Amino acid sequence: MFDKEVRLPNPQTSTALGQLLNNRVSTKEYHGPEDLDEQTISDLLWAAFGKNKKGTRTIPTALNQKELGVFLVSDKGAWRYNGEENTLSKVSDEDILPYISEQDYVKEASLHFIYTGSNREYSPLHAGSAYQNVYLAAEEKGLNSVVRAYIDKEGLKKP
Ligand SMILES: Cc1cc2nc3c(=O)[nH]c(=O)nc-3n(C[C@H](O)[C@H](O)[C@H](O)COP(=O)(O)O)c2cc1C
Repeated sequence: MFDKEVRLPNPQTSTALGQLLNNRVSTKEYHGPEDLDEQTISDLLWAAFGKNKKGTRTIPTALNQKELGVFLVSDKGAWRYNGEENTLSKVSDEDILPYISEQDYVKEASLHFIYTGSNREYSPLHAGSAYQNVYLAAEEKGLNSVVRAYIDKEGLKKP
């Protein structure tokens, strides 16, 4: 198809997707939690793992098992996102932010998503697809975002 080495045409960064990808960056400075409106929260969750018009999800999943948990977390508690129904169900009234805020800047962010799964091989891949979608959806809305693995996973497991 190609010779051994070839310079490719410049990427087309002027398209809607090209601009989002071109601007994608992890932000580690936030300036205090703000209340985001429900539409914004819905759009971000939908990007992560919502149902699309093809009847599938915004991300592919291994064996089409849709094996990914997505939780919304704020200082008011935690909610599980149901992408099939586009609903949120409260799963905790507790402020679990201390378990996910080991880095100081995190406390200043407006909301947090937690991705869970039980498939050692595939769940991290599904989470990767979801958080990349969230980066792009956030960028489109002029919001900052960062994915983080540095959280207290054992603490979160406590009832
Ligand atoms: C799987 C994964 C885990 C990450 N965990 C953390 C984290 O715990 N804390 C943090 O501040 N950044 C975390 N990051 C963000 C990276 O530091 C960031 O993506 C990297 O510095 C590259 O910057 P960029 O995203 O702007 O290209 C993580 C990124 C990935 C992909």
